[in-house]
Amino acid sequence: MNNIRNFCIIAHIDHGKSTLADRLLEVTNTVAKREMKEQLLDTMDIERERGITIKLQPVRMHYQFQGQEYELNLIDTPGHVDFSYEVSRSLAAVEGAILLVDAAQGIEAQTLANLYMAMEHNLTIIPVVNKIDLPSAEPEKVSEEIVKLLGISKDEIIFASGKTGQGVNEILAAVIERTPAPKIDPSNELKALIFDSIFDPYRGVIAYVRITSGALKAHQKIRMIQVKSETDVIEVGYFSPTLKPSNTICAGQIGYIITGFKDVSLARVGDTVTLESDQNVAALEGYRQVKPLVYAGIFSVDANQYPELREALGKLKLNDAALIYEPEVSEALGFGFRCGFLGLLHMEIVKERLEREYNLDLIATSPSVSYQITINKQADGVESTIIIHTPSELPEVTKIAEIAEPWAVVEIVLPKSNIGAVMEMAGNKRGIYVNLDYLDEDRAILKYQLPISELIVDFYDRLKSITSGYGSMNYEMLEYRTGDLVKLNILVGGEEVDSLSQIVHRSTAIEKGRIILAKLKTLIPRQLFEVMLQAAIGGKIIAREDIPAVGKNVTAKLYGGDVTRKNKLLDKQKAGKKRLKRIGKVDIPTEVFLKLLKN
Ligand code: GTP
Repeated sequence: MNNIRNFCIIAHIDHGKSTLADRLLEVTNTVAKREMKEQLLDTMDIERERGITIKLQPVRMHYQFQGQEYELNLIDTPGHVDFSYEVSRSLAAVEGAILLVDAAQGIEAQTLANLYMAMEHNLTIIPVVNKIDLPSAEPEKVSEEIVKLLGISKDEIIFASGKTGQGVNEILAAVIERTPAPKIDPSNELKALIFDSIFDPYRGVIAYVRITSGALKAHQKIRMIQVKSETDVIEVGYFSPTLKPSNTICAGQIGYIITGFKDVSLARVGDTVTLESDQNVAALEGYRQVKPLVYAGIFSVDANQYPELREALGKLKLNDAALIYEPEVSEALGFGFRCGFLGLLHMEIVKERLEREYNLDLIATSPSVSYQITINKQADGVESTIIIHTPSELPEVTKIAEIAEPWAVVEIVLPKSNIGAVMEMAGNKRGIYVNLDYLDEDRAILKYQLPISELIVDFYDRLKSITSGYGSMNYEMLEYRTGDLVKLNILVGGEEVDSLSQIVHRSTAIEKGRIILAKLKTLIPRQLFEVMLQAAIGGKIIAREDIPAVGKNVTAKLYGGDVTRKNKLLDKQKAGKKRLKRIGKVDIPTEVFLKLLKN
């Protein structure tokens, strides 16, 4: 056990984690040179194409150091804020973390967020300034930022390049010398923490585990302590990085268990595995349940693909515990699902995976947040609250006492010269200033509290544009806070169009209403009569547009009484109306809804 080290690499997105992991695999001969390809641990197509890590990926390496052989278990983790749940799970399974900082970029928002998480888990931090081969690298300046942030001495920092391999052996030496060997629970009872669990269509559920005590072999009977599910182990082994069966996996190690379960919820992330015969084993501390931050409707373009969409979501969910969904019916888009995501990138990735892995053509509605509604005291005097994920679930206005929306604390790392502009933008988005700190003479850390609904619209894009790409941000959900929130209704020809209603802050209602009406006006074809478009809060109209009538009469140009010709023409017109949605007396092509609702 003394020769085992478990560690992970944490960094801001693109600071070079996966590239460094490639070098570690090479130096330790874990992967033969001819099998080596770039970013080997990014196994999904979409990860390789976009160059981002979405799923954590463990790998076991062997390394000779000062005459001894060490077993090094590395977990490669994603860098993007949406996937910090993956990071937090990896952190709970290791003792050390390499904190990688790009020598040309310096510390960024996600560097801080990941570092805080690693500190919460009491991990040994090994700071590395990476990409020192870059002509624009400023290793001295970046190392000063790290010294200031961590309060360490400069000689603890390793200077490296995942590209040239410089410093890689030094990093491995530091992992061995500075990271403690795993602490072993002296009891012989099996306790293994499930830190990930994937579904393989051929082999069933494979649980990724960190064993804290005891050992496990194939064919033993195991039990998940919390879910209380039981099964016979089909195979155990480790990651090389592909699955390599072994006789046993034991305390201190990271490995996998092929469970034979057909449903990941039976071997849930955060649960503890023990032997069926060990009756009184207490569960290890698991993980907090993740809550989605943004919600959107997902519909198939072809209504006939609804069953395929349902099946695809079910399968994707098997490998993505953070994804949640429930059926949704939209008057405009038909049957689909309201899905909850960890953030906008997560939403984009899920949609793209559904489309490419399951061959579907999908529409995602623009993202929104959940709201907490306090319902007026009923006759029995009891006040109740509900959480809704779409404005159409809002109870009648008269029943609503309060609407609350989720807030987040946002940490922005940015050049000093952009502080004023970013503060102005955050203020316009109802942000509340928290504090300002300096990383060094050029860069600052700005903290704000903001409603998540404002954050998910274009906050990140605006930040990037104000800071010419140099700003980065990270956010964490706070709580629901009541606000002056109202339901903005859209009426066409006096009829409410449910799928176009939104919950907005009263101060922005008129502007938002006008924008929607202006769009509707250009999208809805002119009718034989004038069509009134209105935006309203409750019964109060706050904006109005009119679509003038066309004087066209399809049969007007037919003279004489040729009834068959006239009927043919009317039939043709009817067929053209098939993809129309009737609101009151107005027929609206479904494309109009698509254009308005689409993300
Ligand atoms: P995520 O997994 O998305 O968080 O990114 P990552 O941190 O794994 O970064 P990745 O290894 O994908 O590297 C990002 C980019 O930086 C790629 O284009 C790499 O080729 C490049 N890169 C990584 N390490 C180095 C380095 O040491 N030197 C130079 N010059 N480029 C590097």
